[in-house]
Amino acid sequence: MTAFERQWEDYTELVELKLKKYLADGRIHKTLSEAMAYSLNAGGKRLRPALLMAACELSDGDLGDALPLAAAVEMIHTYSLIHDDLPAMDDDDYRRGKPSNHKVFGEGIAILAGDGLLNYAFQVMLEFLPYARDRDDYAKAVLELSNRAGVWGMIAGQTADLLFAAGSGEPTVAELNYIHNHKTADLISGALLAGALVAGADQRLLEALRAYGSFFGLAFQIKDDLLDLQGDASLLGKSVGKDQRENKLTFPALYGEEKAAAMLRECTENARAALEPFGEGAEFLCEMAARMAVRDH
Ligand code: IPE
Ligand code: IPE
Ligand code: MG
Ligand code: MG
Ligand code: MG
Repeated sequence: MTAFERQWEDYTELVELKLKKYLADGRIHKTLSEAMAYSLNAGGKRLRPALLMAACELSDGDLGDALPLAAAVEMIHTYSLIHDDLPAMDDDDYRRGKPSNHKVFGEGIAILAGDGLLNYAFQVMLEFLPYARDRDDYAKAVLELSNRAGVWGMIAGQTADLLFAAGSGEPTVAELNYIHNHKTADLISGALLAGALVAGADQRLLEALRAYGSFFGLAFQIKDDLLDLQGDASLLGKSVGKDQRENKLTFPALYGEEKAAAMLRECTENARAALEPFGEGAEFLCEMAARMAVRDH
């Protein structure tokens, strides 16, 4: 195992332990808790928690402060996947190698499991506030995550994605960038910035992470679009070939696969370049961008 892989595994272990503890709370309705746990524990790369924790460490922060935020960002991400798969949205039957949440629990409970994860994310973040090393920094981190996950960010992107697929909106570069920057890059940047803000990072580092996050976030969604065309469903753990059928506006749809692949490489290089001045400390994030550009799931 390489140093990078060990670090990612350590972050994953920490966040999964925290998630397990949160999910074990007996006050959550049993069926709701089962439905939330089903999607949370179905696997998933735990990318956003790893980015958040790595950004915190790069900013010389304490992982203890980052951990509730890392668990929360994975809850927010998982809720977005449960809702994204609903028949009213992308109508996908598989996710993380298993039947989608609504296929197992029904649409009503799947909607509520998503609502539950979203709400619980903010609940656990707020509960930790009194214990934070610096409450102002912690509040700034929570606000950044809220802005990026919410109606200015991911939800705005998902709205534009759905409207385009339903036939409204023009297939322009501006529309495509709006969708990808918001539906995917915003939560990725939100995770990075929350990790840095909670550690009290300076403006120079925040600026660099903002640039890294927007390039890497865009690259991540271009790769997701390419995997929908070229990937293997059994490795991906989700259906392939759906974007074209659902009339999604994607990089390969607008530019063709070859040009999209070149843009993916360029965004990945730009992401790495943004963190280059930070040397060895930024190694994990630089390698993450490189690995995600060639991933198979
Ligand atoms: C899938 O995200 C949704 C996108 C934003 C492309 P991931 O590829 O990170 O999904 P998991 O968490 O590994 O299942
Ligand atoms: C996902 O985009 C963005 C989300 C915020 C969930 P996609 O719809 O392309 O993601 P997958 O391919 O279903 O994972
Ligand atoms: Mg979608
Ligand atoms: Mg989808
Ligand atoms: Mg996709």
